[in-house]
Amino acid sequence: MVLTQRDWLQVRDAASLLGVSEKTLRNWDKAGKLRPARHPINGYRIYRAADLHELKRELNRPTYFQESLDLGPPMGPASVSTAVAEPQPAVRKKPVDDGSMHWRAEVALDPKHRPQLWNKPSSTVRRDWRKYPQEAHVLDEDCRRYRRLTPSEIAVLQGFDNILAKNTGFSDRQVIAALGNAVPPQMARAVMEGVCQIKSFKKHTSIEVCAGIGGLARGAAEVGFKHLSCLDIDPVCVQFLKRMPELKNSEISSDDLRYARLDRFKGKVGLLSGGPPCQPWSSGGLRRGSEDDRDVLGEMPNLICDIEPECFVFENVAGLTTGQNKSYFEKLMKKLQEPGPALRYGVLAAKLNAADFGVPQVRERVFIIGFRDEPAVKVHRCFDAIWSARTHRDPTISDATRSEWRTVGEAIGGLQDPGGWKSWFGNAIPADNFWNDE
Ligand SMILES: C[S@@+](CC[C@H](N)C(=O)[O-])C[C@H]1O[C@@H](n2cnc3c(N)ncnc32)[C@H](O)[C@@H]1O
Repeated sequence: MVLTQRDWLQVRDAASLLGVSEKTLRNWDKAGKLRPARHPINGYRIYRAADLHELKRELNRPTYFQESLDLGPPMGPASVSTAVAEPQPAVRKKPVDDGSMHWRAEVALDPKHRPQLWNKPSSTVRRDWRKYPQEAHVLDEDCRRYRRLTPSEIAVLQGFDNILAKNTGFSDRQVIAALGNAVPPQMARAVMEGVCQIKSFKKHTSIEVCAGIGGLARGAAEVGFKHLSCLDIDPVCVQFLKRMPELKNSEISSDDLRYARLDRFKGKVGLLSGGPPCQPWSSGGLRRGSEDDRDVLGEMPNLICDIEPECFVFENVAGLTTGQNKSYFEKLMKKLQEPGPALRYGVLAAKLNAADFGVPQVRERVFIIGFRDEPAVKVHRCFDAIWSARTHRDPTISDATRSEWRTVGEAIGGLQDPGGWKSWFGNAIPADNFWNDE
């Protein structure tokens, strides 16, 4: 049998494809959820790509009903013979996702069911909204009806134009996942303006890593940076980047940052920016930090050594700086100050809220900014500039110079109503007659 990389994947690549750690993969092997074969020469475990893609599709289905996936009987120990055993495809029952699940009583009665309120900013938009609808619903102004938010509306809550989510060629789930990760462009612009107000650049060139759908990249382009390169591992995000007019002359690639050769840009870059994945740090995740396979943040000092930019801007979740992540964060900050021999940066981090910059969403994020060969106090002045550029405020505090946070209704009220409203009765109604279709 001829093994091709396209058909068979090694453990690391299989884990990366599924977005889990190698340890999780091992546990799944033991539980019989996956059926690895053995490489005929080195005996290492290898996985059939088709099985991995099938499992990935399965994992992306909604799980809140705890539909049990029948994965077939557990396998015995994997064969260690030199021949590659042809893994038998697992027989699975496919749960039906016809959209009706969003209206079942189980969802409405879920204590985590927190539909967005018309008269408040949205809670943080997350990529998980693609499969857990609890927060991706909106209640109408009278709190009597609610419906699912459309991808276009989610784009608007993230500060993008609703057109962005139209005619993408991707499924709603893919679009919502890509949107959920984004830095709202208004926030990105405020950060980049603050940077440029305080730091003078020799080169107005930029590299964006973990670019997502280009929130930060938009902010950088709007203040005059020309992107030499923009990369993201996710091909869906890359398609979004390719549609951005601001990036039409940039190199855009679907690369894993850890293997991308960016040292060819050494000395040619004014700004290095990016949003290394935040899953390891978010309070919703397992907080495995640097032990998490997705810890791309730890790669940033190496990348800075490769590129030697005049300035860097990284974005991450607010949980990065607290609790058990704190010591990792402090080590990272030290490393960023002196990422390599004869390379020094003044570095500071600060938490900003997208709602303060006119985004109809409470989204707190940590920004880490570093200026090459400058004292940290200069970055302090940069954060002061960003802070004083806030246009909106929490309605519970008084400040006549700023408007109240924008609300969901203000943001999506002007869009065409997609319909699909259901009556909202609250938890007192028995499950059987819970809904009144209109
Ligand atoms: C928080 S999002 C980035 C948001 C983006 N910076 C913006 O401004 O909108 C994190 C992104 O990192 C990408 N990513 C994760 N691991 C990566 C890797 N190893 N190499 C490149 N990109 C990666 C993900 O696909 C995701 O789009």
